[in-house]
Amino acid sequence: MKKLLYQFDTDALPSVFDNVVAHDGGADHVTAYGGVAAGNVGALVEGAIFTRGPADKKNTAVFIGGSNMAQAEAVLAAVRAKFFGKFRVSLMFDCNGSNTTAAAAVAWLAHGRSLAGKRAVVLAGSGPVGQRAAVLLAREGATVAVTGRKLAAVQAACATMKAQFGVDAEAIEAPTNAERGAALAGAHIVLATGAAGIRLLDAGQWQNHPTLELVADANASPPAGIDGVGMADRGVLSHGKVVFGPLGFGALKLALHRACIGRLFERNDLVLDAEEIYAIAKTMVG
Ligand SMILES: NC(=O)c1ccc[n+]([C@@H]2O[C@H](COP(=O)([O-])OP(=O)(O)OC[C@H]3O[C@@H](n4cnc5c(N)ncnc54)[C@H](OP(=O)(O)O)[C@@H]3O)[C@@H](O)[C@H]2O)c1
Repeated sequence: MKKLLYQFDTDALPSVFDNVVAHDGGADHVTAYGGVAAGNVGALVEGAIFTRGPADKKNTAVFIGGSNMAQAEAVLAAVRAKFFGKFRVSLMFDCNGSNTTAAAAVAWLAHGRSLAGKRAVVLAGSGPVGQRAAVLLAREGATVAVTGRKLAAVQAACATMKAQFGVDAEAIEAPTNAERGAALAGAHIVLATGAAGIRLLDAGQWQNHPTLELVADANASPPAGIDGVGMADRGVLSHGKVVFGPLGFGALKLALHRACIGRLFERNDLVLDAEEIYAIAKTMVG
């Protein structure tokens, strides 16, 4: 029986990245739908849950993606609401690579050390990757702050994290590099999760910082989100800090994404969201 993955993407054009990784993760066939919303996903879910017998349902799975976290969350809720009894298939939620990227980054940051009691600042953390990274850093016991250009947007992201994961994160308005640098006062960890190609911090702001211990940047599109961080840095010691670049943890992100796809086809009732994906990342890191 063929392993079929249905990719539900909230964006008009479904992600090619997610499609390729789905094949590499073990799906025999991937059908990608764009423009999926809570209001139109119902019939798609029925097609997935009513077509195969109980023993065969594990060969059908759903992946939810897209660049808008709130819309993707609404799709996830709508999909789950259609399930009942044994009429369900396994699900993975990873809009914009949020869970797999954040899990890979935080798993590396926490690898071989405790983050408990550390102050972590997620720069431009209002996006999908930043929100999930903030949640996972908090799960590791760090005190978390999230910056963004407009306070209201960061506060909204923090409110979502609180509602969904019970995590308290401080919202900081920091629209300039100088203000983002100021937000790092007393911080031990900085993770940049800004949009691709956006410089958020200058080299001197972290290299001369008195308390920072861990520095990580998710942005793989030049210029670097944090100047002076090497693309492939993986636990590199630089200016007394341990540094991770986007490709440094990107290898784990890709392996994790593929592994999660593979898990979907082992049973028909799995839900892989932030915490489940992070648990898998912790077994793969290092
Ligand atoms: N290394 C990997 O393996 C990997 C995998 C996937 C993704 N990524 C990268 O991870 C990063 C985060 O992804 P994402 O999808 O969460 O990003 P995103 O939603 O595109 O952007 C994240 C945040 O960046 C801020 N931002 C946007 N334009 C800005 C500007 N001109 N100046 C300052 N801030 C700006 C926004 O926050 P405010 O509006 O609140 O300021 C936004 O919420 C991206 O760089 C992405 O390419 C890396």
